[in-house]
Amino acid sequence: MTDELDRLPDAEPVKDPGLPEHQYRPTDVDPAQERRAERQISAMFTVAMLLLVGFCVAYIMIDKDQVFLGWSAMNFALGSTLGGAMLLMGVGIIQWAKKLMGDHEMVEMRHPSASSQEDRAAVLEDLNAGISESGFGRRPMIRNSLFGALGFLGLPAIIMLRDLGPLPDGEQRETVWKKGMRVVNDVSGTPIKPSDLQVGQLVNAEPAIMYETDEEGEPLLHGTELLQAKSKAAVIVVRMRPEDVTPSKGRENWGIDGILCYSKICTHVGCPISLYEQQTHHVLCPCHQSTFDLADNGRVTFGPAHRPLPQLPLALDSEGYIVAVSDFPEIVAPSYPELARDQKKLDNKS
Ligand code: FES
Repeated sequence: MTDELDRLPDAEPVKDPGLPEHQYRPTDVDPAQERRAERQISAMFTVAMLLLVGFCVAYIMIDKDQVFLGWSAMNFALGSTLGGAMLLMGVGIIQWAKKLMGDHEMVEMRHPSASSQEDRAAVLEDLNAGISESGFGRRPMIRNSLFGALGFLGLPAIIMLRDLGPLPDGEQRETVWKKGMRVVNDVSGTPIKPSDLQVGQLVNAEPAIMYETDEEGEPLLHGTELLQAKSKAAVIVVRMRPEDVTPSKGRENWGIDGILCYSKICTHVGCPISLYEQQTHHVLCPCHQSTFDLADNGRVTFGPAHRPLPQLPLALDSEGYIVAVSDFPEIVAPSYPELARDQKKLDNKS
């Protein structure tokens, strides 16, 4: 124990270097200099007082329309007198502190930062007793295997990093829309006919698969699967006058008599768009105000979104209900760095 204590560092390893020799200021040793400094400082305060009086006079006397060197004379006078007074008071106070106020070194002794020798001995004794009782030193096999287990504890965390990638590719960007699937009202679940829509009307809709069942009457989609499908396939169906629509090349027959269908997912960061302005055919995303022109292929007219709203091509089935011609030809999602790559995969597939 004594050996171990001897090896511990000294409780006060840093020796007190003492104070450097005191340097007297000229004003401490020369009464003439002291008086001069006193006069200088009080002169600064006196001029500051005069400037403040000048400020008041300027405020009363100077016409506010008077011009001095191209500036308002009143502003010039008020600024220079008040600024000058504050500057002189500040400089005077600093000079007073530096030249005339007390200048003695103050010493406050620090308490020793190390524990006393007795406390250190007690801690060391407890530590050694613990090591001895646990058999940590006597049982190297257990000790080493424990160290091994602790080392391996980091492995699961490293392996789980794998879940960070790879990023979803194009296939996962598909929605449940497919050829011939009816477009249904997302509140009533009823399929939509062109005659159900007035010019200027917009309805929120979704694919009919949300309501379909298998032979046993069980819903085809349920739980998380249903929620995911719903969130990616949500659409808006809007009717406008056919002459207002300006389809781009290849989209001439994507609508039915002025009825168009677009994804409801904003291409900025994925909020559901909702606010429709009938006259302009613009739809606004409430999150960051991206605005899309539904008459012009979902083009972005304002805001941070960079891609048009994906459009779903429409047709009529044999009973006259509106159906999708295919899934969205474009990826429905907020924009992300690998989108161009995924879109290429999707294009190659179709
Ligand atoms: S999510 Fe629509 S503008 Fe940002």
